[in-house]
Amino acid sequence: MSDALKAAARLIADARRVVALTGAGISAESGIPTFREAQTGLWARFSPEALATPEAFAAAPERVWAWYRWRRSLIARGGVNAGHRALAELGTQVPLEVVTQNVDGLHTAAGSPDVAELHGNIWRERCTACGHESSTAIIDHPGDDLALPSCAQCNALTRPAVVWFGETLPVDALTTAEAYIREADCVLVIGTSNRVYPAAALVEHALRGPASVIEINIETTPISGSVAVHLAESASHALPQISRRIKARA
Ligand code: OAD
Repeated sequence: MSDALKAAARLIADARRVVALTGAGISAESGIPTFREAQTGLWARFSPEALATPEAFAAAPERVWAWYRWRRSLIARGGVNAGHRALAELGTQVPLEVVTQNVDGLHTAAGSPDVAELHGNIWRERCTACGHESSTAIIDHPGDDLALPSCAQCNALTRPAVVWFGETLPVDALTTAEAYIREADCVLVIGTSNRVYPAAALVEHALRGPASVIEINIETTPISGSVAVHLAESASHALPQISRRIKARA
């Protein structure tokens, strides 16, 4: 085990309260594409303007729903990976809350109980007319030829309950995330490029101290030079090792 991993495990074990702030990188090993990586990232292959804005949905709801159904199918097929599982396990070892930019629902599926979903959840739908919300379980992809979904209460068109470009974040999730970060003395930033606000601002707040910030990312990001420990490893490799190390110390 590297010295950096040992140092990270020590900071986490000694913390009073830990927050894990996650991004697409923790789900990458479930076969779910990230957003900004060259070649493979979703925004390298698809236009956000055509798929992830209220205007795109108003103009072509079939196209937008087809894309979200495709993404649901990737999530259902990939399921939770060793990184999600280890983070849930870590939550049984130390007081830990999760703030995620991911919409895949995989932290909850892995057993993490306290998850603030800053960008919504792809398995939830919201009615465009009455606002009623409903959710679908993480199941196998139901197929491409489905009709547009409609609200169980008023029959109007529903939309994925995710945050699109130009929209504000869900107030509850953001308020919860801010409180988690304020209270934490150790912040674990996992698999995010730290380029999207306001999530990146939560990390910037933590970096101003007194919390120690640990980053797990296979690449460097704008915060890598400022963190207490940067683990240049995949989440599914680093997190199980940290959890095992803390278990061995207990
Ligand atoms: P990005 O695609 O911007 O960044 C993913 C990060 O994960 C990169 O820094 C990778 O180096 C890292 N990474 C990849 N595989 C990894 C692995 N196995 N272990 C650890 N790190 C790994 O994704 P986000 O930062 O999550 O928003 O993007 C933030 C938001 O931008 C998304 O929530 C989405 C997007 O636009 C909305 O859709 C609202």
